[in-house]
Amino acid sequence: MAPAAINEPPRIDMAALKAAAAPQGPVVDLRTFAHFDNTPGIGTEFRVDGDYRDKSGKPIVSLRDILDDPASLRALGRLVSERGVVFFRNTEISTQEQLKLVHSLGLLGGKPETSGLHVNPCTAPGQNEGDEVARISNNYVFGEKFKRDQSKMLLRRVGKHCWHSDITYEPVPADYACLTIRTVPETGGDTLWASAYDAYDRLSPHMRKFLEGLTALHKGLGFIQLAQKYGIPEFRENRGSPENVGQDLEAIHPVIRTHPLTGWKGLFVNREFTQRIVELTPYESDQLLEFLFNHVSDNQDIQVRFRWEPNSVAIWDNRCTFHSATFDLDDNVREGTRGLSLGEKPYLDPNSLSRREALEKQQQGAQA
Ligand SMILES: [Fe+2]
Repeated sequence: MAPAAINEPPRIDMAALKAAAAPQGPVVDLRTFAHFDNTPGIGTEFRVDGDYRDKSGKPIVSLRDILDDPASLRALGRLVSERGVVFFRNTEISTQEQLKLVHSLGLLGGKPETSGLHVNPCTAPGQNEGDEVARISNNYVFGEKFKRDQSKMLLRRVGKHCWHSDITYEPVPADYACLTIRTVPETGGDTLWASAYDAYDRLSPHMRKFLEGLTALHKGLGFIQLAQKYGIPEFRENRGSPENVGQDLEAIHPVIRTHPLTGWKGLFVNREFTQRIVELTPYESDQLLEFLFNHVSDNQDIQVRFRWEPNSVAIWDNRCTFHSATFDLDDNVREGTRGLSLGEKPYLDPNSLSRREALEKQQQGAQA
C-alpha cells in the first residue's frame, strides 16, 4: 500500500459532523452506559465485557459503537475534555481509525479547520502507515533507526522527569490523542496521567493569581538533540498546521490556560518542554518551574495509572492533562501507535473558572 500523504487528514463527513455539533443536534450522554471513574478527578473507563466493577445494570457501550456516530463522538470529546482521559477495553482500532477519531473529536470541539494531525518533526517521510501515525516503542524513538539505549535499570530516566503534555513546543499544540499498545508486555509499561485542572485547583488563590499573568517558553530540546545525534538535516515542515513550521521547535504559551470546551482553567507547563517563564529572572523561573513540575509529579491524588491489556485504548486531551510512561520494562517489549490532533493556540480567559469552582456553581444552581 502506498504511504498516506503528509498532513492529509482522514476523509471525514464534515456535514454529518457539523449537524452533530449544532446546538439542536442529537444529545448523547455516555454516562448512561456502564462505566466507572478511575479516580474522583481524572479518568473514566468503559468495559465491553460486563466488568465486575460495574453493578449498575447500565447497557454496555464499545468504542466501535461510537466511532461512526457523530453525536456519540461529540459526547466522547466532551467527556474526554471533562475527565482528562477516557479508557476503553477489548477494542481493536486501526491506525487510520485512530487518526480519524482524534481529528473528528477536535473538529467537533470547534478547533480551527487549519488544524490537522500532527507530524513528528523527526519522522522520516513516507512511513508505511502514514506520516501522522506515531509509533511508540521502548526500543526506539520515532522509527527503528533511532535506537533507545536507556532501557536498563541504571540508565532509566527518573520517572518524574518524564511528565509532559504532547508537543507543547508547537505554536498550535495538541488537543486529542489516541494511543493503543499493540505489543503488550506481561507486566510493566503502565501509563500515568495527571489532571491540569486539579493541578490548578490545588494551588493557593495567591499563587493562581500570580501565575495567571505569566507566559512560558516551550522548546522541543529532546528532538533537537535527537536530530544532532542521528544527523537529521532538518525537521519536517508544516507539522499539521500552517503555524507549526520552522526549525526552532519553540513557542510561548500562557502558564495558565482556559480550556475552550469546558471553560475551565488548567496549569500549562511541563518538565519535558517548558524552558523558562518569560517575565521572571532565570533564577526565579528555575525555582518556580521546579515547584510546578514537582506539584504535578508529587501529588498522586491528581493522577491515574493505567495498566495496558491487549486491545486497550486511551483517549486523552492534552489541553488539560499531563502524562508519563513507566520505564519498568528491561527486556520486555512495549509497542503501540498514537494519533495526535492539533487544537488551537492556547489562551487565558481571565473570567473563566477553575473546574471545582465551575462544578460547585453548577451544583448550587441545581439546588436553587
Ligand atoms: Fe506523550
